[in-house]
Amino acid sequence: MDFDLVIRNGVIVTASEVLPPGLDIGCRDGKIVCIGAGLPSSASTQVIDAEGAYITPGGVDSHVHLAQANAPTGDGWETGTRSAIAGGTTTIIAFASQQKSDASLFPVLEEYNKTSRDQSYCDYSYHFILTNPTKEILRDELPVMAHEHGITSVKLYMTYEIMKLNDREVLDILFACKALGMTTMIHAESHDMISLIIEGLERNKHTEPYYHAIARPRIAEDEASYRAISLAEFADAPMLIVHMSSEVALAHVRDAQTRLLPIHAETCPQYLFLLSERLKADPHDHFAGAKHVCSPPLRHDPKDLEGLWRNVANGTVTTFSSDHAATKYFAEGGKRLGLVDGIPRFSKIPNGLPGVETRVPLLFSQTPACVPPEKARLSLPRFVQLTATNPAKLYGLGGRKGSIAPGYDADFIIWHPSDKGICTIQQKNLHHDIDYTPYEGMEIGNWPRYTILRGQVVWDQAKGIIGTMKCGQWLKRGRGEVLVGKTGNLPRGMLEDERKYWL
Ligand code: URP
Ligand code: ZN
Ligand code: ZN
Ligand code: ZN
Repeated sequence: MDFDLVIRNGVIVTASEVLPPGLDIGCRDGKIVCIGAGLPSSASTQVIDAEGAYITPGGVDSHVHLAQANAPTGDGWETGTRSAIAGGTTTIIAFASQQKSDASLFPVLEEYNKTSRDQSYCDYSYHFILTNPTKEILRDELPVMAHEHGITSVKLYMTYEIMKLNDREVLDILFACKALGMTTMIHAESHDMISLIIEGLERNKHTEPYYHAIARPRIAEDEASYRAISLAEFADAPMLIVHMSSEVALAHVRDAQTRLLPIHAETCPQYLFLLSERLKADPHDHFAGAKHVCSPPLRHDPKDLEGLWRNVANGTVTTFSSDHAATKYFAEGGKRLGLVDGIPRFSKIPNGLPGVETRVPLLFSQTPACVPPEKARLSLPRFVQLTATNPAKLYGLGGRKGSIAPGYDADFIIWHPSDKGICTIQQKNLHHDIDYTPYEGMEIGNWPRYTILRGQVVWDQAKGIIGTMKCGQWLKRGRGEVLVGKTGNLPRGMLEDERKYWL
């Protein structure tokens, strides 16, 4: 067997185990062919020595906003995906967003294809954001999206005036998606609680960035999450609640999972590492908190972080995504969005933080590869599940992405123990087109030495980016897998046969 690429002697980590050292990975034509000891190489084989290194699957970031209207000065495909590979991510799922005025999804897809075609350093797909789910779209268009285009997931919003759906619309989508094997993602925050608070804050002229965190209290997420779970239970459909920041909301998820409902949870680095104090003015810049405005907001208490870490470790959280939805702090001409005639208006600050590049290294920093075992927040296999295997399976890329096994795409991260045992996150080293990182100065244990996409080294810590915008391929996805619980449940309190009267 002639391999194009052999990676020698690394410690391979999968979603279930850390394999013993001394194994080689043999790859050909962009795929993993076999794993074994002492694999042969020839003159045409590229050999990478990974002695002493960990090898984990290339990251799958299933929540990335690129070239979207809601982040007007944010990353486009070139800069966002370049940033992804430099941080170990080889696959992203971005969003194609329907506007309320769009009566069909096809022109929207065409438009997004134009922005991404030949512009991606990593493999990619989209989720559809549905804001106007007409009968025609659900009946005629979603099946074409799923079967012909391999777009097998949608994201819905329960908040934001221009995006939000009512419960009936969410139900109609859940029933449609269930029939197609599509995964429904939902942004769960109570719009009515939030809009009531914002009205009061504005009346009292509390409009600095910090009030963004006051405007979206945890109870707004807790209530909407429980409501979303109930809607999914009613429709007997799988659901993933995105960017969860509240331990109470996660307890609702855990309770649903215990009842075998297919309810999945996503969280993001910002909710594990940052607190709402970041939204306060700094001594030199009263508007600096604007850099940390995201929704749900950063929470107040270190106990909130601890609660989330527990849910990362105990299996409740299914996927760990960046929610990269970045906006430049200083836009063109030094303009700062949300500073209106010199007055801060938190409700006008675009929501979302940069993070596609720092996501994987931040989580890796909390594994036994970087900290003493008793300080580790999660195991290495759990790290692999959250950053790669679970999102790949949930979104219909199972068997191809997110694992190290024969037949899978040869996507890897190679982590050599860092010389200094320390690596500091600095904006000047990142590859996005954003002018700050919320993690500036944070010391983490390691950074990917190589990122490999379908057998090709695309990031080399010594040389920088060596992939090109032609490297990324469009991924036609299959049906999503249910990772927890099962479908076929009867909602609590319903009789076995009563649905026949209305279903
Ligand atoms: O603050 C955030 N998360 N903005 C991005 C849009 C979204 O809700 O995911
Ligand atoms: Zn959201
Ligand atoms: Zn005030
Ligand atoms: Zn988002």
